[in-house]
Order: sequence, then structure tokens, then C-alpha cells
Amino acid sequence: MAATEITKEQWAVSESYIAKIKEDNALFAIQNGRARLAHTETYGCQQNVNDTERIRGMLSKAGFEFTENAEEADLIIYNTCAVRENAEQKVFGRLGILKHMKESKKDLMIAMCGCMVQQEHITEKIKRVYGHVDLIFGTHALWRMPELLYRAMHEKGVVVDITPSDGAIAEDVPILRDKEQKAWVSIQYGCNNFCSYCIVPYVRGRERSRKPDVILNEVRNLVANGTTEISFLGQNVNSYGKDLDCDVDFSDILRMTNEIEGVKRIRFMTSHPKDLSDKLIYTIRDCDKVCKQLHLPVQAGSNKILKEMNRCYTKEEYLAKIDKIKKEIPGIALTTDIIVGFPTETNEDFKETLDILRYVRFDSIFSFIYSRREGTPAAKLDFVLSEEEIHKNFNELLEVQNQICKEKNLEYEGREELVLVDGESKTNKDCMQGRTDSGKIVNFKGSHDLTGKYVMVKITKAKQWSLDGEIIGGEN
Ligand code: SAH
Ligand code: SF4
Ligand code: F3S
Repeated sequence: MAATEITKEQWAVSESYIAKIKEDNALFAIQNGRARLAHTETYGCQQNVNDTERIRGMLSKAGFEFTENAEEADLIIYNTCAVRENAEQKVFGRLGILKHMKESKKDLMIAMCGCMVQQEHITEKIKRVYGHVDLIFGTHALWRMPELLYRAMHEKGVVVDITPSDGAIAEDVPILRDKEQKAWVSIQYGCNNFCSYCIVPYVRGRERSRKPDVILNEVRNLVANGTTEISFLGQNVNSYGKDLDCDVDFSDILRMTNEIEGVKRIRFMTSHPKDLSDKLIYTIRDCDKVCKQLHLPVQAGSNKILKEMNRCYTKEEYLAKIDKIKKEIPGIALTTDIIVGFPTETNEDFKETLDILRYVRFDSIFSFIYSRREGTPAAKLDFVLSEEEIHKNFNELLEVQNQICKEKNLEYEGREELVLVDGESKTNKDCMQGRTDSGKIVNFKGSHDLTGKYVMVKITKAKQWSLDGEIIGGEN
């Protein structure tokens, strides 16, 4: 069944609260000689980044301005992640610091939202231990933030809304994006897969797809405002459309976007191996604007562990898909996610993960040590390996992959690559930075006004995590 949408009437309520906050903020500006300032911090995945853009969109409409500096903010919002314990620990650490800040600045408002607070035991802990938090809202209540924030601004005590919903989609929430040239476009929310280690389905709800015309309209509007690179987002993006009443799947979305004039690059994440169809492989191959890059999380190499993870594919099936992709799209950049130390993983199981890395030769991997998540099936399992053994395996994994990464990057030396310039380099202030079609980071000398443009760069040196290059021309 298709997901319901938040109705115009429901959204009108949120808008009326945006107007009320705006009045408050106008008064504040007169009294203080400056606008009320909001500071947002985002943890977790790109979907959370996109959600923060919605939060900022609503705040901006309500008359807030933004600051990068939490110290000067009147409102601090943390958009949190629950996927691993360290993501949660970081937030608790920050909350401790905010307590002192609030002691010296009584009017400071502190809000927490996102996946971490969607869990009841976490919200209970915040209420119990961190009394200085004014507002808590979960992933399902994002569109209701204006009303909740207004109440928090006017009521004593913490305002909380973590009610789970059937997964309605809010289409009217305004989005304030950071960059002009690149945009995240969420096309599907939630996850139905229930991998046994993962909290996401519990905090994000069931899979629901946005309607194709709404997505394509968003892309057209973005292009009209100068965006050329579109990244489609979904926890399981390649199962897009399965819940829709119309007969449109993810490949169709890619093909239709490929036809839109002004779009130059299309990326997407994250694909689940079990839903990677031949049709999608041919679509990536045939659509000139779809970047030749695929993130395909394998998680583990042993069939026993894959089964216990509930991943719904075997090592052989995964590798057969990789073979097919490599055959159809030679040179495609492949990346993956790996979990080391799933409770029942033995050293022999782990060796099979290394075998996968050596066979596929991923361009890069995102590797994680298993983190126990309360409420997931894997949380009940006992560990076979000790913490030391798991860390030893993790380090071995990094060593094997670092070598492969370096070798893959060396293949780029001497090549000419079209690069979309992101801005100043993060590692070298004298350089600019951008990405190749395959997603590799390139640093090169150039002026700041190249930001957002495409330049041809000759790769002069391969490094461990990036490439150095020289501009040899503009876009041809
Ligand atoms: N939907 C995506 C991404 C999910 S979260 C996917 O299925 O690939 C991103 C990554 O975090 C996962 O791919 C997995 O590798 C990792 N992850 C999820 N739960 C974890 C846990 N409990 N411990 C360690 N890593 C985890
Ligand atoms: Fe988590 Fe699995 Fe869903 Fe990815 S596919 S979000 S790992 S449950
Ligand atoms: Fe984290 Fe939620 Fe994303 S748990 S990884 S922010 S979907």
C-alpha cells in the first residue's frame, strides 16, 4: 500500500506555528538588536543531513538566522544517530557540555531530534539525567517541529514527541540546502529489512517511497536553481517503488532523471545487494549521467554470518552480482560497508570477509566494529571472540584494504578526469577540492570562483585517501 501524505490541513497547522515563532523572533530582534540564532549539528547518515536541511528550512521561515558557533546560539538542535553506540556517546558527551552553557545563558534552548531519541529508553534517560533539554522530537515528528518548538519556547519543562507513526510522508516541509551545486534528494524513507544487528528499521519505520512526479519536480526545481549533481537517498534505495500503486521502480527514476536537461551527475545510496536487479545494472551502464560508482554493502563474507545477520544473500550471490557489474560497467568504482565482530563471528568467518575484499578490490570501504543495539535480535547473542581478538581482526581488515585503496588510486595517475569543484580543500588551504565521476576526492590549485564548476584535471599523484592533480581545462 502506498504511504499516506501529511495533508495540506496538517501542514497548515505547522505553518501557523511558523508564523507565531516568526512574530516572537521579530520582537526578539527589536529588543536585542539582532536576529535569534540557531545552531544545528548533524550525526549519522546523509538522510539525517537531508532532515537537518528541512529543519533549517522551517527555522529560516520562522525568522531564525544561523551560526556555526554553538556558543553564540539561542537555539541548539542536535539531529542524532543511533546506528552505533559511539554515535550516542558523542551526543551524551555534548549534552554534558551544554549543561554548563545553559547555566550561564538561561534563555538558551536545547532541542534533540532524530534516530537516537526515537528510542524510548534514550528519551527516558535524557529526561532523567539531562534536565536542561527543552525539546525532544523523533524522526516521525519532524514536520511538527514548529508547533513543538513554539510550545517549548512558551511552556515550562521538556516538550516530547516520539510517537511512532504509520510512516506518512511530509512533502511541504521547506528545505534549506548548504550547497548549490549538489543536492541530496530523499526518495524513500524507512527500511523493511531488519538486519539482525541494525536499529534503523525501529527508529525510521517501514519503507515508503515518494511519488515519482514529486521527486522529478524537486529535481527540476533544483536544476533551475543551479544544482547539477543529484544524489538520491534511501536506506534501501534500490527497492524504491515497491510500496507504490504505480509501476515505477528505481531504475525508472534514474532513467527519467537522466532525461532532465541541466542534470549532469546522478548518484544514489544505499543499495541492498538482494534488490540489485539486472535492470538496474543496465540502467547504470546506459545512462550517461549516472556516475559509474556503486556502494553495495556486503557486511560480512561468511554465509553463516550473512544468514545470522538476515542479509538475504549468500557470498556466492553477492560475488556473482559483482562479477556481472564489473563485466557490464568496466572500471566502475565499488565501495562497501563491513561489520567486524558480529557476536557469532569466528576468526575463520572473518577470514572470509578478507577473501571478499581481496576478490572484489573495493575502491574504499566503510568498516565498523559491531555495536550492540538494544531491541535488535543480535543483541541477545553471546560473543565468540574477545574484544582484543575483534580489534586485531579490525586492524587486519584496515591493513588489507589500505593497500588495495592505494593500488586503486595509483591506477588514476596520468589520467584526465572531469571534476566537480566542491570548494576549498579540507586538507590543504592552498588547494581546491572536487570529485571525479567515480567519487574520488581530487586536490588541485585553482581559484575559489571555480566552486560549483566542472574542470578537467590531470591526476599527478595518488595518495592513500585522495588524488592530487592539475587543471588542464574547463568542461568540454
Ligand atoms: N541501509 C544501509 C545503511 C545502514 S547504516 C545499508 O543497509 O547498507 C550504515 C552501516 O552501518 C551499515 O551498512 C552497517 O555496516 C553499519 N551498521 C549498522 N548497524 C550496525 C551495528 N549495530 N554495529 C556496527 N555497524 C552497524
Ligand atoms: Fe539496517 Fe539492514 Fe535496513 Fe540497512 S538494510 S538500514 S543495515 S536493517
Ligand atoms: Fe543513523 Fe538514523 Fe542514519 S540511525 S545511520 S541517522 S537512519
